[in-house]
Amino acid sequence: MVETAATKSRESVGETQIGGCEVRLDQVSKQYTQGKEQVVALDKLSIEVKAGEFLAVMGASGSGKSTLLNLVAGLDKPSQGDIFLDGRAISSWKDNQLTLFRRRKIGFVFQLFNLIPTLSAEENAALPLLMAGQHRSIWQPQVSDWLKRVGLESRHKHYPAELSGGQMQRIAIVRALIHHPSLVLADEPTGNLDSKTGDQMLFILKEITEDLGVTVIMVTHDPMVAAYGHALITLKDGRILDSAAR
Ligand SMILES: Nc1ncnc2c1ncn2[C@@H]1O[C@H](COP(=O)(O)OP(=O)(O)OP(=O)(O)O)[C@@H](O)[C@H]1O
Ligand SMILES: [Mg+2]
Repeated sequence: MVETAATKSRESVGETQIGGCEVRLDQVSKQYTQGKEQVVALDKLSIEVKAGEFLAVMGASGSGKSTLLNLVAGLDKPSQGDIFLDGRAISSWKDNQLTLFRRRKIGFVFQLFNLIPTLSAEENAALPLLMAGQHRSIWQPQVSDWLKRVGLESRHKHYPAELSGGQMQRIAIVRALIHHPSLVLADEPTGNLDSKTGDQMLFILKEITEDLGVTVIMVTHDPMVAAYGHALITLKDGRILDSAAR
């Protein structure tokens, strides 16, 4: 295995587990009620992503892509159907089990970044490690390596309001990878980046996740970005319009 910032830092936190999480959706529907209106965000969606696979998700605005990621992360619950992570139906998990699983095993790049405004760039990037109670002296060198890697070595102490959209996006990507999750859910992770920086970030994402066998589900509007996946699905009105494997 090539020694990367991720493998190095995994050794330094004494974590040994490598491998991805298997994700399965069985006839999952999600309706939102807004006043008297009902919106069908997902409609009997069945998907299987094997451990270590990289699934790209495309589809027009409003087709259900972010809803899909939120449900897989357990941030929201399906109206019908069930989602299985490593074979376990998440409906059967207690809330605190799901929270812990999410914190330790899932890396989420949110469409709107969701950085914490009162934390600096390096603290935002280190958030999963901070939440795990890791001391600054341990996480700081790792975060420093990462920030250099994504071209933000001079932005450690900046707060989100002092960063550009693309810089926030890169911090959000580091935050999703730094704790070596087994599942990365990324909602348009390159949407705010120029094509060269976007390619660099995808390269890093692919390298790290392939190295560690991480499962990735990535939403994108860009067919060139979707080509990074092992498989591609296109959603329309919460259903699969098209699917392709490579
Ligand atoms: N909390 C909510 N309450 C009501 N309706 C919602 C809610 N969240 C999403 N929706 C609706 O569900 C549908 C799917 O939304 P979703 O955010 O999953 O779309 P998307 O494919 O991610 O779109 P985009 O490409 O614009 O990000 C949309 O019609 C949206 O208006
Ligand atoms: Mg979305």
